[in-house]
Amino acid sequence: MITLSIIKADTGGFVGHSAVHPDMLAEARREMTRAIEAGLLVDGHVASCGDDISLIMTHTYGPDADLIHSFAWDTFQNTAHVAKDLGLYGAGQDLLSDAFSGNLRGMGPGYAELDFEERPSEPVVCFLADKTGPGAWNLPLYKMFADPFNTAGLVIDQKMHAGFVFEVHDLQAGKRILFDCPAELYEMLMYIGAPSRYVVHRVRSKTLDETAVATSTQRLSLMAGEYVGKDDPVMIVRCQSGLPAVGEVLEPFTLAYGVAGCLRGSHHAPLMPVASGHAHPSRFDGPPRVVALGFQIHDGKLIGPRDLFADPAFDKAREQANEVMDYLRRHGPFEPHRLPLDELEYTTMTLLTERLADRWTPMSTEVATPAGTGGRG
Ligand code: F6R
Ligand code: MG
Ligand code: MG
Repeated sequence: MITLSIIKADTGGFVGHSAVHPDMLAEARREMTRAIEAGLLVDGHVASCGDDISLIMTHTYGPDADLIHSFAWDTFQNTAHVAKDLGLYGAGQDLLSDAFSGNLRGMGPGYAELDFEERPSEPVVCFLADKTGPGAWNLPLYKMFADPFNTAGLVIDQKMHAGFVFEVHDLQAGKRILFDCPAELYEMLMYIGAPSRYVVHRVRSKTLDETAVATSTQRLSLMAGEYVGKDDPVMIVRCQSGLPAVGEVLEPFTLAYGVAGCLRGSHHAPLMPVASGHAHPSRFDGPPRVVALGFQIHDGKLIGPRDLFADPAFDKAREQANEVMDYLRRHGPFEPHRLPLDELEYTTMTLLTERLADRWTPMSTEVATPAGTGGRG
């Protein structure tokens, strides 16, 4: 068994919330090399998307392992120190707790972890997104594993006919449910079409009895009780041989579909698929970005990455993202660009409600006209 873990955190932005400083990446890479040399990790790769650092690691300790999570925690503490020394913005932002206690759950960093027997050839895609939340993976996962207009294999490959089981989490209630697809597609869509609350966490092939997907499902705002940034999710997708092909896994991103996030985590905006070098959202802290790093895992080694969105075939999606961004920006502070009130993560509305409480009167009562205006007619 090998475990593939992506553990990510925003430990400081350069400049503002747009990117990670090279010194922070260098520090994370030093730690990663040390952990590989010490035998803790089989292999590792440090990547970033926007202001988030992702530690992509293979090891034999399984998901939720104390040793792996504490390594990531210590590494993020170090990158946060580098950020503090350089006076970078939001240094240590996602490190919500002062002390590590065995597991990263509820501590700020996000993670997606998958353990499996390595197949003779094991192609995986690691997706990293910035300026959006974990529900952003719902739409592409539906397309990859349930939509034959996206995934030809659902029709052409016998191994896919039995379908896939989706594990969906209710982030508000802290519950989960399994949907057997395609039989329960319509019921599932009722839930996952509301991605601020319902999030696909895992997908399993019924024929292969293999888990193909793991996503990070943490929501920082639910953990911290007030706005502390977006949760900038990550996702692992295993591909080929009875699972969607790499091309089928990437195809959903040819639509710059709308996600929640962007500036102040408070706007709908299109998700733009980009090469790593362009994963630095500057315009209106957006549009939200996604990168796709492809690896072949061989004897636990991460052969790669290939920067899969560095392909002109995604140019149209990028153009579309820019067009949709222009269109939405013209709405300024109005919905549907701004998120509906119950999804806004800032506490402004609560404070405003308290401050203006006395000024709201029943509509039937006469409202005093401000002095000097004299009323109408
Ligand atoms: C989005 C994000 C940024 C900030 C924005 C304001 O995830 O982190 O859009 O919300 O730049 O940041 P502050 O309030 O720190 O000035
Ligand atoms: Mg940040
Ligand atoms: Mg971020």
